Amino acid sequence: MAQQQTLRLRINGQETPPLTLDSRVTLLDALREHTPLTGAKKGCDQGQCGACTVHVNGERVLSCLTLAAQADGAEITTIEGLAAPDGTLHAVQQAFLAHDAFQCGYCTPGQIMSAVACIREGHAGSDEEIREYMSGNLCRCGAYTHIVAAVRDAAHHLQGAAHESV
Ligand code: FES
Ligand code: FES
Repeated sequence: MAQQQTLRLRINGQETPPLTLDSRVTLLDALREHTPLTGAKKGCDQGQCGACTVHVNGERVLSCLTLAAQADGAEITTIEGLAAPDGTLHAVQQAFLAHDAFQCGYCTPGQIMSAVACIREGHAGSDEEIREYMSGNLCRCGAYTHIVAAVRDAAHHLQGAAHESV
């Protein structure tokens, strides 16, 4: 018989009201069906497309392969939590807009969450490296050239800002 668990997820800096969920519910379904946050997208639901990428404790994870219970007590960040509190977009979001790095936009939240982590991990040093470390994020529209350009630009911007603040 399915077990129910009560979770208090901490998402984008705020604790959600307690959620009583079947222990097999994925983080993706918990977000999309039990909170108002539908930014993480369900593409394949089996770990193949990256559309569901979110951060757990700063690391990118595929939320379709993560149980909600595994994220209990962790800091979860979704695309909705990336902009600054005053609404200023994150540098990666701005770069995606500037480079037209999307068409239908379905893969975009996952691409952006992966790109933020990729840059933070230090894996955006060249176009080849960006392509390799973003390879888990598929784009059916084939916007890859623009996505790589956006990640490259955002990485320069963020790394420049990091040097200036030292
Ligand atoms: S929906 Fe999670 S990897 Fe495709
Ligand atoms: S922009 Fe359509 S799937 Fe990537």
